[in-house]
Amino acid sequence: MPELEVQPTGLLYEGKAKSVYTTADQNELLVVYRDDMTAFNGGKHDIIANKGHLNARACKLFMTMLEEAGVATHFIRMVSETSMLVRKLHMIPLEIIVRNIAAGSLIVRYPFVEGQPLEPPTVTFDYKSDERGDPMIIPEFILALGIATAEELTLMRKTALQINTILKAFFDQSGIMLVDFKLEFGRSNGAIYLGDEISMDSMRLWDKETHESFDKDVYRLGKGDVIHAYTTLLDRILPLERRSS
Ligand SMILES: Nc1ncnc2c1ncn2[C@@H]1O[C@H](COP(=O)(O)OP(=O)(O)OP(=O)(O)O)[C@@H](O)[C@H]1O
Ligand SMILES: [Mg+2]
Repeated sequence: MPELEVQPTGLLYEGKAKSVYTTADQNELLVVYRDDMTAFNGGKHDIIANKGHLNARACKLFMTMLEEAGVATHFIRMVSETSMLVRKLHMIPLEIIVRNIAAGSLIVRYPFVEGQPLEPPTVTFDYKSDERGDPMIIPEFILALGIATAEELTLMRKTALQINTILKAFFDQSGIMLVDFKLEFGRSNGAIYLGDEISMDSMRLWDKETHESFDKDVYRLGKGDVIHAYTTLLDRILPLERRSS
C-alpha cells in the first residue's frame, strides 16, 4: 500500500472487494477499495484495473450528498483515491434492498417482467451470510433471531426510502434510472449509521432511453467493458456534483 496520511494498524477484514484496516483511532477504520471484481457470491472473480478508484470516487460523492441531506453515514473523509476513513460500526448482518424497477433476482424468483416499475418502491432484507447464499429474510425472522430491533428495522426502512428519493432525483438529472440498490447499516454509540458502500457495484443504473447498464451487471452478465461503463456513468454525474451540494 502506498504511504498514506492515515496509517493502517492492522487488517480487520479482507472482503471480496474492499479491505478494512484498523487505525490509531479505535473509532475509525480505513476502507481500501481494491480492483477485485466478483459476482455470483465469488463464483466469478477478476482483477480489473482502476475499478477500486472509480467505486471509491462514486461512494464519496453519494455519502457526501446523503450527509448533506441529513442521513447519518460512516463516511469521514477520503485518504487517497482508493481509500476512505470511516466511523467504525458494529455491522448489522442485513442487506437492505430498495427497488424501483424489476430486474435481477426479482425476475428470476417472481413473475415480474424486467423493466416493470414497482410503485411504491419496495424495501426488502437479505440476511448477509455467504454460506447460506444471502437469503431474503422477513422482519419477523429478523426480530426472532435478534438481528435488529423493531425500531431499528423501522429506521433502516425509512432511511432507505429517503436515500432512494435523494439518489433517484440526482440520477434523473442526467437521464439515468436508479433501478435498485443495496445498503448496509451498523451501530455506533447507540445510533444507526449507513455503512459499507454505495457505488456502481451496489446499484443498478440504466440509461433512461436505451436501458444500457452502467453498473456491475455489465461484468456480471458479460455485457461489455465494465470500466467503460463506470467511467461513462461518472462522466455523466460528476458535473452535477457541485450543484447537488
Ligand atoms: N463502517 C464500518 N465498520 C465496520 N465494518 C464495515 C463498515 N463498513 C463496511 N463494513 C464491512 O466491511 C466489509 C467490506 O468488505 P467487502 O464489502 O469487500 O466484503 P464482502 O466480501 O462483500 O463480504 P461481505 O459479505 O461481508 O460484505 C463488509 O463486511 C462490510 O459489512
Ligand atoms: Mg460487501
